[in-house]
Amino acid sequence: MNAIVENLIGLDLRAEIDRLRKERNAVILAHYYQAPEIQDLADFVGDSLDLSRKAAATDADVIAFCGVRFMAEVAKILSPEKTVILPDMDAGCSLEDSCPPDQFAAFRAAHPDHLALTYINCSAAVKAHSDIIVTSSSAETILSQLPADQKIIFAPDRHLGGYFARKTGRDMLLWEGSCIVHEAFSETELLKLKAEYPGAPVAAHPECPVHILDHADYVGSTRGILDYVLASDSDLFIIATEPHIIHQMEKAAPHKTFIGAPGADGNCNCNACPYMAMNTLEKLYLALRDLTPQIEVDEPTRVAAKRSLDRMLEMTGGVSGPDVGRPKL
Ligand code: 13P
Ligand code: SF4
Repeated sequence: MNAIVENLIGLDLRAEIDRLRKERNAVILAHYYQAPEIQDLADFVGDSLDLSRKAAATDADVIAFCGVRFMAEVAKILSPEKTVILPDMDAGCSLEDSCPPDQFAAFRAAHPDHLALTYINCSAAVKAHSDIIVTSSSAETILSQLPADQKIIFAPDRHLGGYFARKTGRDMLLWEGSCIVHEAFSETELLKLKAEYPGAPVAAHPECPVHILDHADYVGSTRGILDYVLASDSDLFIIATEPHIIHQMEKAAPHKTFIGAPGADGNCNCNACPYMAMNTLEKLYLALRDLTPQIEVDEPTRVAAKRSLDRMLEMTGGVSGPDVGRPKL
């Protein structure tokens, strides 16, 4: 047992987090992929952009972001006057890692006639080098407003970019990044599960590779998937995204059954996001107590990144956009 955990033994962590939340005038945000015990004590549970926008609209002095680093950076970009803490600064993202800012800047420079549409899952520095940020909910709305002959770079998720290229018929230059979580689903195992539960619709996130999306009845963002299963008449679903979102589904529809899509051995835990799992109640408590680790974004980067985020909001009427997934490809 490490020293940090040892020192906290005997503390009522939930009560202490509650006390510090009030003392610090803090708002606690949890992404859908966080552990249930974190989701259950958060002030807001949602997708990354929605959480940052909700936090910006509060009068909190502190934002405790239970999610990954790029999400907390978006919160800081939108609320520079607030202190933004992330329980574990190592909570990164394979998509962010796949797109180092200097390499992205060089790629852009090599394609000066291309517009850079960049998925929100990237660093603040990459956002600053981009023209328009997109989410899985807003990308299609934004693409529909760009002239047909406009050349486009889509970074960093090649699966998400490929999905929108197929859906809109646009030829885009794709950055070669991917999400290790959504890449872990096995087509063979998914087909076995579908055969076992023939009536169960499959809902998938567009970060999944095409061989998974091809079997989906619905493709959409985390929020979109949640809305889909709640609105559907079916009582049984196969969910091809990070499995912790099932916690919200079970809370909202306790009479329905949700089965996580399997990885290669049919029963692995490989589709739980290891970065999201770095946040714990202990680390959240310490972050609120010590106001560290804090997210810092230098002002020129923040302003440039905010410009590309604002462009998305302008092009989607101030919301992150209608959902992407109905009907399936
Ligand atoms: P959304 O919640 O925006 O759909 O993103 C999914 C994801 O992978 C976040 O890391
Ligand atoms: Fe990144 Fe994938 Fe984890 Fe989301 S689920 S934070 S995209 S590694």
